[in-house]
Amino acid sequence: MSLVVNGEEHTFEVDTRRSLLDLLREELGLTGSKKGCDHGQCGACTILVGGRRIVGCLALAVAHRGAEVVTVEGLAQSPTGLHPVQEAFVEHDALQCGFCTPGQVCSAVGMLDEARAGWPSAVTTDLAAGDIHLDAREIRERMSGNLCRCGAYVNIVAAIEAAR
Ligand code: FES
Ligand code: FES
Repeated sequence: MSLVVNGEEHTFEVDTRRSLLDLLREELGLTGSKKGCDHGQCGACTILVGGRRIVGCLALAVAHRGAEVVTVEGLAQSPTGLHPVQEAFVEHDALQCGFCTPGQVCSAVGMLDEARAGWPSAVTTDLAAGDIHLDAREIRERMSGNLCRCGAYVNIVAAIEAAR
């Protein structure tokens, strides 16, 4: 199977039981995406597939043949080498140990696109508004799949508010 990862095409021979997360980490050495729970519960492995955020530990690699995958290593766009969301995380000190951070950043990038596209969340009051106002409550709800054991949530929310 082949995959386009961070803009580069790769071809692999893959065990059908292998997760996308393990493929990225073990075949391509892209260890930015973390394996926390390996059960879809912590969000540390969040990556973007076709522009949408998914947890790589629950994705079978073979189910994503030909997909375009972006990991935290592929997000950087600016001359500083950081994506605006990454810059906001640095600016707002939105991490402590950093283990959850790649997943938080990828999830935030995907979430901001979802909000721009007008997708409501469980706490959106006006479903017809189309224009989503991402206040702290919306951000907390939309980022609730990404756990931070260090409890850096206050600064994570502040960083995402700055990057929205
Ligand atoms: S490692 Fe994938 S959700 Fe925890
Ligand atoms: S910064 Fe340590 S788990 Fe989030």
